[in-house]
Amino acid sequence: VIKMADLALAGKRVLIREDLNVPISEGRVTSDARIRAALPTIELALKAGAKVLLMSHLGRPTEGQYESQYSLAPVAEHLGDLLNREVPLISDWREGVELADGELALLENVRFNQGEKADDEALAQAYASLCDVFVMDAFGTAHRAQASTHGVAKFAEVACAGPLLAGELDALEKVMANPARPLVAIVGGSKVSTKLTVLETLSEVADQLIVGGGIANTFLAASGKPVGKSLCEHDLIPVAQTLMAKTTIPVPSDVVTSKAWGGAAELKNASDVQADDSIFDIGPQASAEIAEILSKAKTILWNGPVGVFEFDQFGAGTQALSEAIANSAGFSVAGGGDTLAAIDKYNIADKVSYISTGGGAFLEYVEGKVLPAVAMLEQRAKG
Ligand code: 3PG
Repeated sequence: VIKMADLALAGKRVLIREDLNVPISEGRVTSDARIRAALPTIELALKAGAKVLLMSHLGRPTEGQYESQYSLAPVAEHLGDLLNREVPLISDWREGVELADGELALLENVRFNQGEKADDEALAQAYASLCDVFVMDAFGTAHRAQASTHGVAKFAEVACAGPLLAGELDALEKVMANPARPLVAIVGGSKVSTKLTVLETLSEVADQLIVGGGIANTFLAASGKPVGKSLCEHDLIPVAQTLMAKTTIPVPSDVVTSKAWGGAAELKNASDVQADDSIFDIGPQASAEIAEILSKAKTILWNGPVGVFEFDQFGAGTQALSEAIANSAGFSVAGGGDTLAAIDKYNIADKVSYISTGGGAFLEYVEGKVLPAVAMLEQRAKG
């Protein structure tokens, strides 16, 4: 693909698609990781003397309608604070947008525009007419074929990848295409069903696959262990058995259980789980076994917590996992919403080699799916 860093941008109208879909509560941004990740791209374009227009979606509003709770106004304000300059928010962009060189503005939520999600060609052309160069930088939305990601890339005079998108793709390629081995992948989270393709792909690629959270319960059941009342997808037990035959997938030797959601914690050997117990975390012995495996890894891919870490009594497993990844000398990549929350909680952000801004996009990349917005950039680069 063509890279933004290789283009001369002075005096050009540059439209940058970022993923500024951040959590907002009471009109304030509560986690600005995605905004901060976009800063180097924005600063680079401004410094080059471009007229910089940003766009993003926020949440999932009713399409074609303005809904104030989905306005990007809090994002414009937060971005303005970070850049120490005013960031105007533009709703009536169809009239045309006039910016001076080195000036910056943000378009209102693209999902207020009818046709955005359907990748409407007229809308994509309208976006394209706002710029000389379109920069796709929203890795987190690259799995969506929508007018502001895929459509505009088709019609813009020049379409290129921004530094954030390019960096994400490089880091993920380093893990999935040609990893230093052993590659250890950790997949946590609640359900096997939502991560089945991820598990299947990683069982082919990784040297060791570690499962945690509700996902591990199905694997415990698949290896004949009792899981009591734990979240467990019994219909997927045969699938778990097939995966275990393909690659090494250790199941936790000890677990932390409770009789109730958020209740008192009890440490048990995995064979001693009772009918009225629910498993909410892995135990210290299982954590130590995982840490041992990770200490030998040359590459680590991490998605999903191994316990219900929002409760401190069920957070020790995810904390130990975070620390083991932080202590690893290997190349580590982490991604997915809950994973980032765990990284924040256990304060290891600067010890992970690469933290992806993608949730769904990260998983789809790992599944080996084509990201439509990236595919369009590749097509455009071929001419
Ligand atoms: C995300 O948060 O995963 C991206 O911003 C995509 O959002 P979407 O799932 O609403 O398309």
